[in-house]
Amino acid sequence: MSKDIKIVIGCDHAALDMKKKVTEMLQDKGYEVTDVGAFDTNSCDYPDIAHLLCEKIQSGSHQRGILICGTGIGMSIAANKHVGIRAACCSDLYSAELTRKHNDSNVLCFGARVVDENMGLQLASVFVETEFEGGRHQRRVDKITQIEAAQLKKI
Ligand code: RB5
Repeated sequence: MSKDIKIVIGCDHAALDMKKKVTEMLQDKGYEVTDVGAFDTNSCDYPDIAHLLCEKIQSGSHQRGILICGTGIGMSIAANKHVGIRAACCSDLYSAELTRKHNDSNVLCFGARVVDENMGLQLASVFVETEFEGGRHQRRVDKITQIEAAQLKKI
């Protein structure tokens, strides 16, 4: 994957150390990484961080996002409420790879209380370095986008 993509990363109080390690690893690989917080271990609300991050993906300023909380689940639920965001909560490398290849996911979520540091680093690596395969998978992603558009009309 080209190092031209910009990555945005965020966490809550449960995942500050993991976020620092992942950020350092990605920067060492040559990626530009923007950190939207949290910046300390004071208790905070993961939807606030997810929202800041998703707005950067939506604006086009960043192409991939990584959200880390205790389980990854709260972050993924909050992220997937955003138009155009396809967030995948992963705890294994196969899922992290396939969600890029098949779902064109633009946000990876995982739990710092679920995976160890080594797995967190590998999940992030695989996620940013794996390309979408397109083809029949594009048709399915397009259907997700169509469902999203139809849902928005109901509001
Ligand atoms: C915070 O205690 C915890 O609820 C949060 O990090 C996350 O796991 C929520 O899904």
